[in-house]
Amino acid sequence: MISVGNGSDQILDLILANLCTKSTKILTSEPTFGFFEERCKLYSINQIKIPFSKNMDLRIEDFIKKAKSVDMIYLDSPNNPTGFQFSNKDLEKLIKSFSGPVIIDEAYGEFSNSSVLRLVKKYPNLILVKTLSKAFGLAGLRVGYMIADKKFTEIFSNVIQYPYPLNTIAIECGILALEKSKQITSIFENIKKQRTRVIQNLKKYDAFDVFDSNANFVLFDAKGADTRVYNALIEQGISIRKLGKLASHKGCLRVTIGTSDMNSKFLLAIRDLLE
Ligand SMILES: Cc1ncc(COP(=O)(O)O)c(C=O)c1O
Repeated sequence: MISVGNGSDQILDLILANLCTKSTKILTSEPTFGFFEERCKLYSINQIKIPFSKNMDLRIEDFIKKAKSVDMIYLDSPNNPTGFQFSNKDLEKLIKSFSGPVIIDEAYGEFSNSSVLRLVKKYPNLILVKTLSKAFGLAGLRVGYMIADKKFTEIFSNVIQYPYPLNTIAIECGILALEKSKQITSIFENIKKQRTRVIQNLKKYDAFDVFDSNANFVLFDAKGADTRVYNALIEQGISIRKLGKLASHKGCLRVTIGTSDMNSKFLLAIRDLLE
């Protein structure tokens, strides 16, 4: 039930290129993972988007309703860039209600407390996509994988995927990383603790709207001061992501959770700027 790819990007790309046509409609959120959107545009695939609310969350009922008129669903779970994640119960409701493929992209799944992994055996239309790029810190290795119904992974691996999807070094390093996954699990717990610390600290400032996150980053709206905050951080050697307008928020910034020292440096720089 597993297929691999040169990063999960390649798996998503091959699914779009091979399963979709110009008349395919894909239901997703606004915002969603930028690469996925760009590939849909490249293949002229229609994206039906449900926008995030002001609180940066989504309602599963909206997806279930809209799913009636689409051919495929894509959700990054947790979502990049908001960190939002539906509960498994909600996702199961959606997958059950829909007969076409549902792609759940758990690129940041290890930083959250839930996964749809156990639903794959129950729902043959569920395609779970994962990667070693985020939690394992191996983005340069380009190892992504998909867990889905055997009928689909067999077609994917034997027909859709290139004959030699991964190079030998990536295979060997990937195996080593998976063998050491117990050591890596402790890092996830630490990142979750640090994420709580960053969120709590940022929430102290009225200047920001801060959103809860299930990923290894935190999104906040600096309400028009985003360029000022971004530039001040750059001067201190701290690079965060400037996202600008998202949903009804005008000045969004996304900070990745680093080591405790890195997060302290970030929070001190924010304090110096705002206090
Ligand atoms: C939601 C999501 N999915 C997939 C990817 C791609 O990861 P990779 O191709 O490195 O496996 C990313 C990378 O940013 C992402 O944010």
